[in-house]
Amino acid sequence: MAVSGARGALGTALLRALHGHGAELMALTSSPEPMTLSDGEDRPIPLRSVGWCCGQEQALAACLREVDILVINHGVNVYGDRSAAAIERSLEVNALSAWRLLELFLQLPERPAGSPCREVWVNTSEAELLPALSPLYEISKRLLGQLLSLRALDGQGENPCRIRRLVLGPFRSALNPYGVMGAGFVAGQVIAQARRGFGLIIVTPNPITLVLVPLQMGLRHLYGRLFSRAAS
Ligand SMILES: NC(=O)c1ccc[n+]([C@@H]2O[C@H](COP(=O)([O-])OP(=O)(O)OC[C@H]3O[C@@H](n4cnc5c(N)ncnc54)[C@H](OP(=O)(O)O)[C@@H]3O)[C@@H](O)[C@H]2O)c1
Repeated sequence: MAVSGARGALGTALLRALHGHGAELMALTSSPEPMTLSDGEDRPIPLRSVGWCCGQEQALAACLREVDILVINHGVNVYGDRSAAAIERSLEVNALSAWRLLELFLQLPERPAGSPCREVWVNTSEAELLPALSPLYEISKRLLGQLLSLRALDGQGENPCRIRRLVLGPFRSALNPYGVMGAGFVAGQVIAQARRGFGLIIVTPNPITLVLVPLQMGLRHLYGRLFSRAAS
């Protein structure tokens, strides 16, 4: 499994939890230093650290070929900044690079018969729907969510890849120091719901999200079906 935003709170928590489930791990990190990780008892967790940066997603094609599950998890929050640079950074990191990674993974060459079906998990946010007190964060996450909804309308032909969407409520991290949940709890819930087969994975203390997100996904699906068409 490969996880982007690997050094962040959720990236680290997911890698630790996935290690507990016996997964072989690849950490996709934009930091210049290779990533290392240890478990609760300070034992090193085996993982392959791969450096990348936004705009150079294609360079990951070779190593993603061997990946069964890609978790697109990197993200940034510019809070109240509305400068041109902040707009560009939010759109580039939260929406466009995530989108390019998704497309890259969906278009990887077919795998040998008998290989497990590929999966991509895309971490959007509750901010797809609800205010996050950060307009650019909301705009960029909504863009990613809407693109994902459109893309999920099409099967991937002979090269199937399951798309799962992660809609998460506030958890503590550098991106959101005031989150009410812990990243470890969120990672555990994400994996538990994925193991139960859920395509829409929601982890939140907010009951409004639990009701509105599935409704909104249904409406988007209908709208996309009616007013867009697949490439011929
Ligand atoms: N915290 C919340 O309340 C919350 C709620 C809903 C959804 N989310 C989403 O969950 C994901 C993980 O967030 P987090 O809360 O764990 O935040 P975090 O601790 O700040 O981690 C985000 C990670 O994204 C990567 N990243 C940041 N800027 C980047 C850039 N310019 N290019 C490529 N990678 C970059 C970094 O990892 P590397 O250094 O390893 O590249 C960073 O550690 C994000 O997509 C976030 O939007 C968070």
